[in-house]
Amino acid sequence: MRKNIVAGNWKMNKNVIEAQQLMFQLLEYKKKNTTNCEVWIAPPAMYLMMAKDVFSHNEIGVLAQDMSEYESGAYTGEISADMLESIHATGTLIGHSERRQYHGETDSHCNVKVKLALDKGLTPIYCNGETLEQRKSGQHLEVVKYQIEVALFTLTAEEIKKVVIAYEPVWAIGTGETASPEQAQEIHKHIRTLIADKYGKDIADEISILYGGSVKPDNAKEIFSQPDIDGGLIGGAALKVEDFAKIIEGFNS
Ligand code: 13P
Repeated sequence: MRKNIVAGNWKMNKNVIEAQQLMFQLLEYKKKNTTNCEVWIAPPAMYLMMAKDVFSHNEIGVLAQDMSEYESGAYTGEISADMLESIHATGTLIGHSERRQYHGETDSHCNVKVKLALDKGLTPIYCNGETLEQRKSGQHLEVVKYQIEVALFTLTAEEIKKVVIAYEPVWAIGTGETASPEQAQEIHKHIRTLIADKYGKDIADEISILYGGSVKPDNAKEIFSQPDIDGGLIGGAALKVEDFAKIIEGFNS
């Protein structure tokens, strides 16, 4: 059975006091409530150790927002898979559209990173999705196919089972514009079918595919109710405990 996951991507937000406060609020929420999904957060890299301390019993999974494609060495500013493994991080986002847009990350880089993460026992959350122009010109299915094939299809069946995929249409990120549940479901099903065609249905059915892009308390439940949507990767609404909690509760019937 694949997992339901709600993951909060904090991006470049919050100073240390604010970050600590939100972590303690999340810990309290998690202790008081039973959730029907796993809850993970991806705070800025400098707060990862703090997050591991706060969630010392793994109440909430801790993810990096990115990870180097190199194992170690003279790569100023980068963090490695080995470093993340050494703090017992749950995993890392890979290929977020903001990394692609502002830092030139490509599907081939993502392929290397996904493998490195898996080798260290980290869960890669591979982010992909089309731009507005690509959707408007009807290329979205092809674009997503290419992204999935290049970044993931060199993996073995055992490896790909451990990957989480996050479909995040670029036009829905931080814009307040969400893909409709039907639009999201279409792509999620497309991704699962691509994986089934390559690795078989049993493997495809084990992979969690999250939706990201303006998920809010008032649309989470409907999005999560789609058959191929196994949770969300949440940006802005993950920065307030009340909103994030309501999104998590999108999995409560
Ligand atoms: P928003 O939820 O702010 O649209 O961001 C989505 C996202 O990019 C999560 O990684």
